[in-house]
Amino acid sequence: MAGSRCSRKVRLTAFIAIFFAFFATGSSTAQVPLLMWSSDGLPPLALPAAGHIISNDQLTAYLTTALGSGPHTVLLFLQDKLSKDDFTVFGGVFGNKQDSAFQNLEAAVQTSSSSVTLPALEWSGSSAILALLQEKLGVSPLLVDADTLSHLSINTSVSNLLLINLPYCTGLHKSCKEVLHNNDEIIGEVLGIMKAKNVPYTAIYTGLQPSRVISEMSVSDQSVGRSLLQAIGPDVRPIMFNVSGSPCIMLWAQNLNISLSSSSAWIDLATETPSLTGSMCNSSNSVLVLNYSSGYILSFAMSQRFYPVSARNWFTLDSVQLQFNGLTASFIGRRGIYAPAEYSFHCQSVNSFQDALLVPNNTNQNTTQWRLKFIDFQIQGFGLANGTNFSYANDCAGFFTPGIWMGLLTSLLMLLIFVYGLHMIMQLNTMDRFDDPKGPSISVPQSE
Ligand SMILES: *[C@@H]1O[C@H](CO)[C@@H](O)[C@H](O)[C@H]1NC(C)=O
Ligand SMILES: *[C@@H]1O[C@H](CO)[C@@H](O)[C@H](O)[C@H]1NC(C)=O
Ligand SMILES: *[C@@H]1O[C@H](CO)[C@@H](O)[C@H](O)[C@H]1NC(C)=O
Ligand SMILES: *[C@@H]1O[C@H](CO)[C@@H](O)[C@H](O)[C@H]1NC(C)=O
Ligand SMILES: *[C@@H]1O[C@H](CO)[C@@H](O)[C@H](O)[C@H]1NC(C)=O
Ligand SMILES: *[C@@H]1O[C@H](CO)[C@@H](O)[C@H](O)[C@H]1NC(C)=O
Repeated sequence: MAGSRCSRKVRLTAFIAIFFAFFATGSSTAQVPLLMWSSDGLPPLALPAAGHIISNDQLTAYLTTALGSGPHTVLLFLQDKLSKDDFTVFGGVFGNKQDSAFQNLEAAVQTSSSSVTLPALEWSGSSAILALLQEKLGVSPLLVDADTLSHLSINTSVSNLLLINLPYCTGLHKSCKEVLHNNDEIIGEVLGIMKAKNVPYTAIYTGLQPSRVISEMSVSDQSVGRSLLQAIGPDVRPIMFNVSGSPCIMLWAQNLNISLSSSSAWIDLATETPSLTGSMCNSSNSVLVLNYSSGYILSFAMSQRFYPVSARNWFTLDSVQLQFNGLTASFIGRRGIYAPAEYSFHCQSVNSFQDALLVPNNTNQNTTQWRLKFIDFQIQGFGLANGTNFSYANDCAGFFTPGIWMGLLTSLLMLLIFVYGLHMIMQLNTMDRFDDPKGPSISVPQSE
């Protein structure tokens, strides 16, 4: 009996080891963002180059200068999980401030006298920030919420570390955005209380762990970037618009299907070679005009903008226009057609009628029937300076590619087996104690 229990334990330990080894492989590239702002000034920090990961040592050095002399009151907003993609996805990336889940946070960062944004802070299995702050300030953290904070009297002649825990969305929540929005309300409330109390503070917003573990590619190293075209073969040529000899916009699609009425057949423009007159590129806007000899003109307008909160430039496909016979139908790129500016955007299917990524924006009644359907579509309008290959592709499919579903289900299955196994073992151990109530009780040696 003891022998079988022992071997079961060995098996369990081995299983746990394998399980964690499996997850640990991804964590070497994991990182969380950190935002820090202060009501009374922070020392400057040279903005890290895009893609550069700040190590814990660098953070320690920075906190030592920032919290060096005198007492400080530090508010640590520690969210269960956070990744910089959260800012992009839920932060009103299309310039719509009303739409952002981080309105109070953005306002606080903007109105504070100084702030520091670390988009990528090294994260190796656990968050070091709380221990670090505890060490720098020499005080234990005080867990507060807005309600207790409002009744708390803060002695500013000593250092204070106030910890505000914030949840992240789990499968149980309706909407991730709602959870982040609620957190943002809490941040707003806490900062309001601090202001009302007239207590100077330094605030930090970060995550206990990353919300997504994406293996971040080095953006500067183009050769690492996956090129879908390389995978397809050397004989496919993307459409390239060159400025002074080097490409500045590239587009590739298996089909560029258009239809002028629901009854007429699809016309595939990808079979024709267009002229590109009228296309343009500058640092903030790119327009690709495909002028086909059959009379159709298809144009793609892209722009890129810097979003401070995610510390990088993002490009969006703003609109697609189809012109024919002097009529124009225009389609607006909806949420989803965007990528980091150094990346390309890829989508297996972009269309203007089902789960539409392109939304018709027609004022002309004569073009309401016009439809677009692009298959295996890839476009890049910025950051092509060094090559004739697409950069790493940001895929519109996101979490819904079959590969990801398969991975997700496999992990879930493994987790289920693991939990089931654990449950069984605990059940068995419990049962052992009641094996034979009339027999002698199991004696456990008390000494170590
Ligand atoms: C604040 O803390 C200092 C140092 O511990 C103490 O001398 C002072 O009395 C405290 N002030 C208040 C208002 O509690
Ligand atoms: C654009 O530039 C690339 C690389 O320099 C070259 O291969 C391609 O032929 C050029 N295309 C045109 C239309 O000039
Ligand atoms: C696109 O149009 C071509 C030519 O009409 C047609 O053969 C092809 O099936 C169409 N593709 C889709 C996905 O509709
Ligand atoms: C780029 O082109 C757009 C559209 O022509 C123009 O509005 C914008 O001012 C230009 N930007 C720069 C930096 O030249
Ligand atoms: C498209 O090409 C035709 C003929 O090559 C030309 O007359 C027309 O102006 C072009 N249209 C645009 C918008 O460049
Ligand atoms: C739209 O179509 C109607 C009839 O088919 C025509 O009379 C009208 O001129 C068209 N409008 C435009 C802007 O071409």
